[in-house]
Amino acid sequence: MTGRVLRVAQMGHPVLREVSQAVEDVSDPEVQRLIDDMLATVQYLNCTGLAAPQVFVPLRIVIFRILKTSDNPAYRLTPQYDPEGVPLTVMINPTFTPLSDEMTSVWESCLSLPSLMGKVARHHSLQYSFVNRDGQTESRIAHGFHAQAVQHECDHLDGILYPDKLEDIKEFGFREEILKSRF
Ligand code: NI
Repeated sequence: MTGRVLRVAQMGHPVLREVSQAVEDVSDPEVQRLIDDMLATVQYLNCTGLAAPQVFVPLRIVIFRILKTSDNPAYRLTPQYDPEGVPLTVMINPTFTPLSDEMTSVWESCLSLPSLMGKVARHHSLQYSFVNRDGQTESRIAHGFHAQAVQHECDHLDGILYPDKLEDIKEFGFREEILKSRF
């Protein structure tokens, strides 16, 4: 991989509030280069997910992966963690449909709000579809943390950040304090 590590936009920057544009041509060299750079950034930051607006590009591209439970120190925050994880996935123009009305309250954090976390409601199960970087359409079913990650990242493409969805403002704060007092 030859990507460059990109700078991440912080909450307050207007690019994080834009509705991103659909990618028209997946094979466009600029799109492919952006994907390489986003992959390098995810590896470097060792994070769960990254959406293109977070690197100042308002296009509908998301990268995410879910580590195996045993490799992820955050697993204790996510009781419905997928034990097998999800491999590194590049999603272009992703969409999802909830599979039921069931919602779960989950703690989230985001690279664009470093050091903070908050509790939000997410659909427990969903089906999602996207175009991969080779231009093929893929479709998957997700539950629990996997579904939560897809929703968080898709929200970025619509200019939504997790604090917009807090159920209770008191369930929002500095990660270090919340981890100390609640887990
Ligand atoms: Ni985020």
